[in-house]
Amino acid sequence: MAKGRIGAENVGTESAIMKDLIPVSLLINGVRHDIAIQPWRTLLEVLRENLGMTGTKRSCGEGQCGTCTVLLDGKSVNSCLYLAVEAQGKEIVTIEGPADGDPALEQIQRSFANKGAVQCGFCTPGMVMAAKSLLSENPTPSEEEIREALVGHLCRCTGYVQIVEAIQDASRQMAQKGSAT
Ligand code: FES
Ligand code: FES
Repeated sequence: MAKGRIGAENVGTESAIMKDLIPVSLLINGVRHDIAIQPWRTLLEVLRENLGMTGTKRSCGEGQCGTCTVLLDGKSVNSCLYLAVEAQGKEIVTIEGPADGDPALEQIQRSFANKGAVQCGFCTPGMVMAAKSLLSENPTPSEEEIREALVGHLCRCTGYVQIVEAIQDASRQMAQKGSAT
């Protein structure tokens, strides 16, 4: 009998949750996703839990660590603080982005690997997205500008030196390739 009562409560809760769902259309890495979500879901929750795109990491959930960084219309944002509904109409790029069709993203990832900027790797997706945003706006940043761009991105492993070197390397490689074409 108790079991039946609990079951009825669950059905009520479930239908209440269903009632809160709203349709949302998100353009992520060039692919449109039409989904139904609760309006209070963050972009990070939707990416990871609704769409299974777990490359974007969650750590603090409070805008302090940068692991959840994605690009919205080319600007880096903390997806843990951004409501998914507000990302409608914007181009969202995540670490799963089209590396094949995005030479900058591909080069940045290669430079991170070559320069030893990846250790445990947990901060890496956020760092790569921050680097992509920086190099799109400023292809030849100074060390100081790189360090400024990384404010709010925490790494417990590398001491940041290799990460800065990786971004400098990506900048150089991209300039060489640009001048060669
Ligand atoms: S999880 Fe978003 S800033 Fe830390
Ligand atoms: S490589 Fe481990 S937190 Fe940055």
